[in-house]
Amino acid sequence: MRIPLFAMERMQSTWENLVDYNLSESGVHPMRVEELLDDATDREGLLGQELVYAQSNGTIGLRERVAAMYPGATVEHVEITNGGSEANFVTMWHLLEPGDEVVCMVPNYGQTLGLADVFGGVLKPWPLRLSPDGRRWGVDLDSLRVLVTARTRVIILCNPDNPTGARIPAADLDAICAVAGRVGAWVVSDEIYRGAELDGVETPSVWGRYERAVITSGLSKAYGLPGLRIGWIVGPAPTVAATWSHHDYTTIAPGTLSDRLARVALQPATRARILARTQRILRANLPVITDWLDAHRDRFTYVPPEAGAIVYVRYADSINSTKLVDRLRVEKSVLIVPGDHFGMDGYLRIGFGSETRYLRDGLDRLADLLRSLPGPAATTA
Ligand SMILES: Cc1ncc(COP(=O)(O)O)c(C=O)c1O
Repeated sequence: MRIPLFAMERMQSTWENLVDYNLSESGVHPMRVEELLDDATDREGLLGQELVYAQSNGTIGLRERVAAMYPGATVEHVEITNGGSEANFVTMWHLLEPGDEVVCMVPNYGQTLGLADVFGGVLKPWPLRLSPDGRRWGVDLDSLRVLVTARTRVIILCNPDNPTGARIPAADLDAICAVAGRVGAWVVSDEIYRGAELDGVETPSVWGRYERAVITSGLSKAYGLPGLRIGWIVGPAPTVAATWSHHDYTTIAPGTLSDRLARVALQPATRARILARTQRILRANLPVITDWLDAHRDRFTYVPPEAGAIVYVRYADSINSTKLVDRLRVEKSVLIVPGDHFGMDGYLRIGFGSETRYLRDGLDRLADLLRSLPGPAATTA
């Protein structure tokens, strides 16, 4: 079956473990197992855990912990998946029929755009708009009202957004749900960066605003636990029951140890400790990268992210973004993401969630590469 190349994941899968500095990651530096465990953790129970198949839609204990984060949700509203990516996959697979229109907020991570194509949907990109003062990315409700038709099956959100780091405010979510409600469309909101807000104010969820809302999320980004491969779907009970049977065809069940460690991570006190760690990293490193960008203000403009460990940067050099990223990788062994992967040449996505020294060293190498380019003044002359 023909599939569109998921260019960003393909690039990261190929190079992220081979370069000296991987600044292509969008989450914070991952936790170690011993950092996750605390004195209250049953370590013997963990070591004695039989490696059986876990309950295939996630243990009741884990689903209870996830449900507790979404007011009014019960275990029937939750399915545990292998990462947020499987949550997106089975949700789109379940919801889409060939010919359905999919209105997708862009730029975004890209998986759901590709899946819309794979499942025969008709993709209608819905671009975020930069405010006139250039200080904020936001949704354009008027253009949404035009894009959504009786054939629209799904409106896809990424909130907070990868790559811009923008949050959709509650009033806009309500307005989006109202537009969806006019035609009975689903709103699928990928909220995997929720909890990674720079100001500590949790991003409003679409949960509870609309009867046809589905949330996908997981532990990979805001929690710094990508290696657990734990994601989830939260939605109406019949929808979740249906996606569970799609899951039978993909991976059957989450990893037993992952389910167990996710239950540890989502205990209220541990969860608070993990999210505090995330915010500490974000707040320590954001000034490192913004100072660096400001020192190169002749080439770069950017909107500081509201959430996530990524800055989406516009650059003034005339070099194509993929060429620039390839040169950076080959000549300096640093990996970042080209705007081309979001259909926006002239941009770069730089991750800042790593250890601070590592981030500084990676940026130094990027500065070295920039010195070898003709520079914005020369290219516009
Ligand atoms: C918005 C978004 N959703 C999902 C994923 C994939 O999540 P996971 O690694 O949990 O499969 C990513 C990864 O970058 C992402 O940015």
